[in-house]
Amino acid sequence: MILGLETSCDETAAALISPQGKILSNVVSSQADLHARYGGVVPEIASRRHLELVTPVIREALAGAGAELGDVELIGVTTGPGLIGALLVGVAAAKAVAWARRLPLAAVDHLHGHVASLYLEPDPLDPPFLCLLASGGHTLLLDVQERGGTPRVLGTTLDDAAGEAFDKGARLLGLGYPGGAEIDRLAREGDPGAYTFPVARVPGLDFSFSGLKTALLYAVRELSPEELERRRADLAASYQRAIVRALVGRIQQAAADLGANQVAVVGGVAANSELRASLPEAAAAPLELCTDNAAMIASAARFDKAIPYPGYLGLDAYASSA
Ligand code: KG4
Ligand code: ZN
Repeated sequence: MILGLETSCDETAAALISPQGKILSNVVSSQADLHARYGGVVPEIASRRHLELVTPVIREALAGAGAELGDVELIGVTTGPGLIGALLVGVAAAKAVAWARRLPLAAVDHLHGHVASLYLEPDPLDPPFLCLLASGGHTLLLDVQERGGTPRVLGTTLDDAAGEAFDKGARLLGLGYPGGAEIDRLAREGDPGAYTFPVARVPGLDFSFSGLKTALLYAVRELSPEELERRRADLAASYQRAIVRALVGRIQQAAADLGANQVAVVGGVAANSELRASLPEAAAAPLELCTDNAAMIASAARFDKAIPYPGYLGLDAYASSA
């Protein structure tokens, strides 16, 4: 079986999958509560918490699969992009376990991991497909031709990521962190037509969300605290509608340009109920695999070139791909 490890942001995660892509266990320990009082992830706090959690989380993943370390044949770990201190904890843990057992190690790119969330049982997706990867750190339109390798980037955000737009919007509305799920929940009680927020028009297949955030800021500023209380759900619904429209518009445009027959959505924002409902034909990652997890990292490890023992001892993490 394959052990996956993910510590790129504020989730400490370990998972075991079979070589065929069946999830045997999938443990995600979120630190969100720890960071909520700061309104975002504090890198140093994240690293320290990963260090405390990584061993118990691996143990829990093994126990959940009824497995022992001796059953593991390959380890896949996220080496980037992400918070460098956080990544290093996972990479060090993965090296230690792999080295002690003389196992091969696959260095997994976090973004490939999100795409590989589509390759797990019971409903694995076969390329080619057009993929929207929308998370807290990235908004990418990808042309995925095969399960391994690096997909072609068709478009990306020029400023904020879609998840970042959700998180910043939630903050302006006085909602908790992380904000995407909170806006999603509140939007169900609001009128998406109450406010008209502009969707930035940028050339090609790129995205831009910073203007939208400013428009929300101005709308909120005009309201007294009591009015904001009353209009919060309408604002959330209208703001979400604008983000979803921008994402869906681009996917449809790219699908037409490419003549793509299959469309998929992955990443934390792919958990959004309005986005999923707006793309009934698309393959959406299963809900529990949208936000960060290690099953997707183990899944990607199957299609990456594994480094044989002991060649990975010098392996490093990277904060960004650029
Ligand atoms: O993929 P992910 O867990 O981490 C990154 O790689 O960034 O994505 C986290 C992002 C956050 O910005 C969060 O607000 C957003 O995904 N998110 C959502 C929903 N659930 C999580 N955004 C919109 N609707 C949701 N239901
Ligand atoms: Zn992610």
